[in-house]
Amino acid sequence: MKVLEINGGHSLTGTIRISGAKNSSVALIPAAILADDEVTICNVPEITDTDVLTETLEYLGAQVKRASESIVINPNTINNKEIPENISRKLRASYYFMGALLGKYNHVEMYFPGGCSIGARPIDQTLKGFRALGADIIEEDNRYIIDAKELTGAHVYLDMPSVGATINTMLVAVKAKGETIIENAAKEPEIVNVATFLNSMGAKITGAGTSEIRIKGVDTLHGCYTEVIPDRIETGTYIIAGALMGKNLKIDNIIPEHVEMLILKLKEMKIPIEVGQDYVIVSKVEHSVPVNIKTQGYPGFATDLQQPVTVLLTQCEGTSILEETIYENRFQNVPYLNKMKANIENNGRKIIIKGKTPLEGTDVVATDLRAGACLVLAGLVANGTTTISNVEHVLRGYENIVEKLTSIGAKIKLKEIN
Ligand code: EPU
Repeated sequence: MKVLEINGGHSLTGTIRISGAKNSSVALIPAAILADDEVTICNVPEITDTDVLTETLEYLGAQVKRASESIVINPNTINNKEIPENISRKLRASYYFMGALLGKYNHVEMYFPGGCSIGARPIDQTLKGFRALGADIIEEDNRYIIDAKELTGAHVYLDMPSVGATINTMLVAVKAKGETIIENAAKEPEIVNVATFLNSMGAKITGAGTSEIRIKGVDTLHGCYTEVIPDRIETGTYIIAGALMGKNLKIDNIIPEHVEMLILKLKEMKIPIEVGQDYVIVSKVEHSVPVNIKTQGYPGFATDLQQPVTVLLTQCEGTSILEETIYENRFQNVPYLNKMKANIENNGRKIIIKGKTPLEGTDVVATDLRAGACLVLAGLVANGTTTISNVEHVLRGYENIVEKLTSIGAKIKLKEIN
């Protein structure tokens, strides 16, 4: 079993460079299927989620070449439109193969996707988008057989601004006849990244990044080159590390606007943060002020930073309230923070954090990806040694986390234990 062992209490200083965004890459890799020639995607992080998706492309018959940070995909050789259950269930993003295969070949068979167990995470809005565009869907338990004689543009209203449903509907609409309008679309930067990629293939998408996206279908999409945006959740995670233990810690190669809500909250906490064009510099302070945070879709406070920021709230002097509005079950980190001597009360969709509490290192479990990131941050600030198991979750989403943290002064090791 792999564990992360962290010896806490060391200052973090120097520069940390942010990798390409996981949640963009995991949509761009399946989206490459829509092109009729080779596509190159640059700045793809080397994490297990991107590995699984490139292996899935190969399983479908595509040719994939990986060269350090870029991936070259030739989808012309795809001869399989069925993804078995064991692959579908490896991660949430496997469901972008639904949209990409349906858009390209009018047919896909696969299973309910996997992903972190942080809530029910239904896919009804994605299926609603597919149906509106002309697909027939047979649901057998958790298997989906999706077929369309013809894909036709439609007016799609999403019941909630779902990232997955917005991207999946775009993936089909780019090849559908006529115009599609997605109303109440999600506005996350990853959606803009996917739309830019599709437009470089020749798609006609406008409005990505707003709540109304318009797509004029085209017959063919050609090869292209695209770049993955910096990971705003990795950015936020290391900014929080800097607020906890930083001494002029520079977080570089970022788009500060993508983490604006976090930066504003840090300013409210009275944490010193300098914002440059593509970097921030952040330091720890002795006395920080408690704040209330409520998660929301972009540009609101990101749910994916909710668990990491909890550690910082344990170090503010007074009571903070954190409300999770996106997922029903995203507080599984809380019992472990309390085991580390935090004082957090769980009250349904809200947690009440009473600080400042020194944290003590102990054995904890990463129940999901961002819970794992939260525990890494807790380990950095805690007295003594924190040992985190189930670290596979963390490695799914953070490129070279051990090397990056070590380079700024953290004492962290990935160990194999029995
Ligand atoms: N929802 C539905 N029906 C749907 C789709 C979503 O009810 O058809 C609900 C979900 O249950 C959830 C909310 O709507 O309560 C938001 O879900 P959304 O579809 O926006 O999320 P997602 O596409 O499944 C992506 C990221 C998540 C991130 C969310 C929100 C990927 C692979 N995952 O998930 O990232 O939390 O958007 O920003 O892109 C993570 O990286 O740790 C992570 C969980």
